[in-house]
Order: sequence, then C-alpha cells, then structure tokens
Amino acid sequence: MTTGIELRDLRKLYDGHGATAWAVDGVNMRIGQGQFVTLLGPSGCGKTTTLRMIAGFETPTSGQILRDGIDITDQPVSDRDMRMVFQDFALFPNMTVAENVAFGLRTRRMKGRFSDAEIRRKVAEHLDLVHLGSHAGKRPHQLSGGQKQRVSLARALVTDPDVVLFDEPLGSLDAHLRKVMQIELIRLHRELNKTFIYVTHDQDEAMAMSDAIAVMNVGKVMQFGTPREIYDRPASRYVASFIGHAHIVDAVVAESRSDGLMVRLGNGEVVSLAQPAKVASGQSVGLMLRAEDLSLARPGEGELHGQVADSLYRGEYIEYVVELTGNAGLVHVHEPTDLPPFAHGAPVALKVNAQKAHVVEA
Ligand SMILES: Nc1ncnc2c1ncn2[C@@H]1O[C@H](COP(=O)(O)OP(=O)(O)O)[C@@H](O)[C@H]1O
Ligand SMILES: [Mg+2]
Repeated sequence: MTTGIELRDLRKLYDGHGATAWAVDGVNMRIGQGQFVTLLGPSGCGKTTTLRMIAGFETPTSGQILRDGIDITDQPVSDRDMRMVFQDFALFPNMTVAENVAFGLRTRRMKGRFSDAEIRRKVAEHLDLVHLGSHAGKRPHQLSGGQKQRVSLARALVTDPDVVLFDEPLGSLDAHLRKVMQIELIRLHRELNKTFIYVTHDQDEAMAMSDAIAVMNVGKVMQFGTPREIYDRPASRYVASFIGHAHIVDAVVAESRSDGLMVRLGNGEVVSLAQPAKVASGQSVGLMLRAEDLSLARPGEGELHGQVADSLYRGEYIEYVVELTGNAGLVHVHEPTDLPPFAHGAPVALKVNAQKAHVVEA
C-alpha cells in the first residue's frame, strides 16, 4: 500500500464551459505522507480546482483520488480529515482570535469530542504555535495581515488534520511578510509532520518551501519533481522559462555523446554541455543559459561572444544583458560588483558552465 495521496487522471470540466475547456485535464500525481508539495503555475491553470477536488469541495468530472490506497473520490468533505487555508483568511469578523481558532473544534462533527477545558487548552497551544499567544482576545480587524493569516493557520491546525491544503495563503501579504511567513510554514511543516499541499503562482515561494513541485499549465502537469530537478533539468521550454527566468537561445545539436553534448548556435559558435541528453545530431533545441551559469571574459577567453547591450546595478550583483554576435539571441549574466565593470557596447566573451547549461525542446 502506498501511503499518501494519489491523483489518477483527474479531470474537471465546469458546466457551461464548452466541451473542450478542461479546467483540469488529466492530472497524475503521488503525494507522500508528510511531504510538502506545491502546485505552481500561472493564474487559471487549474491549481485551485485541483486543490478543491482533493479537499472534496469540487467533484471531479473523471479520474480518481486515492488516500493510502483507498478511493476517496466520492467521500464527503467532512470525512477527509483535511483543512484548507485561504488567501483571504476567511475569519469570522465578530469573533475573537481565540473563538475563531476554537470554531474548528465546535463544528457539528467535532461536537462533544472535547470538553470546554480541552478546547481552551488546544486553542492556547495552537495560538502559541503561531506566535499569537498574547492576541487571543483581539478581533480580526485589530490584527495585521500576517497575524490574520496566522489565525487562519491555527484554526486549520487545531483539529489536527493529516493534510493541510493552502490556496495562495500569502498572496495578499507584502513581500517582506511573505518571506517571514514562508519560514514559519517550513518550520510548522517540519514540526508537525503533516502533508502540506500548497498552491502558488510564485516560483520563488515554491522553490524555497517544497519537497516537490508540480509545474502546471492549462490544466496539465508539465513536470513533477524536486525544486532542484525542476530548476536544473527543466523538461520543456515552458518549465525552463517559468522557473528562474531562463534565457533560451536557438541551437542545433552538433554532437550527442553518452558523456555530453555539443550544440551550435545560429552564429556558428559552439557550446559544450556535460550532461548527455536524448537528442540526436542535427536536431533543433533550445539552449538554456541562466545568468548564474555564465560569466563575462575578455574577447577570445570564452566560447560565446557578444556585446554589452545593457547593465543594471542590482546591489548584490551587476546584471549584464549581452547581445550574442550574429543576432544569436540575448542572454543575461550576473557578475560580482567588485570586478571592473564592462562598458555599454563593449565586446565581451562569455564562459558557459558546462555542468549547468541544459537543452530543452526547440
Ligand atoms: N466555479 C467555476 N465555474 C466555471 N469555471 C471555473 C470555476 N472555477 C474555475 N473555473 C475556470 O477553470 C479554470 C481553472 O481555474 P482555477 O483552478 O481557479 O485556476 P488557478 O487556481 O490556477 O488560477 C479557469 O479557466 C477558470 O476560469
Ligand atoms: Mg487559484
């Protein structure tokens, strides 16, 4: 038996949406017990619909959801032992923080399970868990956005669900608070040993927090893997450009060997890659060149050549935009700020990290 959640060919067609517009279009995925898995993709790609089907709020048009090997596709929401955290917090404005958290323990399903004293103890314990111990008596309007999200987290966790589902929970917070809350969520996941299924369109957030990421597009999973696999070895041009803003240059495979690859750009220059790929000689590919995998050198000292089109001082590094010779494409390069700068228009060479450069479908 596999423990965890399995999605089998899951599909959803909303009524009145035309016969072809699948919101979710054949999603397969295994989410191991205790994993932190993120559904990542642009708005409208089917993330929320997938999450709501897992929770039981939406009925799949076809396909199955299994939990520890048992089909739960038709199981009611209240039997699933899952809780959802929403972007808009969904707190009750007329209840105090403590009452909001206690609410989950006072539902019809939970009624009679806990004494008032036990409820008080659990609420206090969970408010401490999210560092809100001293705010128990406040009402939601007296809290900051980050504190409100902590209340909704505590409310989800207080019933001790096996699975916690998050739908863009940090989406309405500012950038700084989002980072703080990301670290909080990682801590909670580590401490609580629950399965977290998380939805976001923010790739940095997905990369930083997840054990595995499902990159989605138009209702489909384009790639499912660890953040490192997805970042270093994107399976397609779509994934490469969605994650880490890769620059992709058109090229043709000059040589494909078991220990590596050589590709030729439109301008005739050749780049060697250390990773073998399933591509044949003569095939058109996209050469993925990330800024951190390139470095600038004097002309003649690297495998590619070009001209500095722009340079942007980013504080941590200088970002150069380099136009490759022969209109072969634009790449971005990050250079340390303490090196002598390259002037606008200067001819430069580019060294390519053969271990990190990667080819994707043309
Ligand atoms: N209740 C609904 N009725 C009809 N169409 C919907 C409904 N919810 C979502 N959709 C459509 O399904 C697609 C996927 O939506 P959604 O799952 O919300 O995507 P995401 O969360 O990735 O932004 C979109 O085209 C959206 O317009
Ligand atoms: Mg959504």
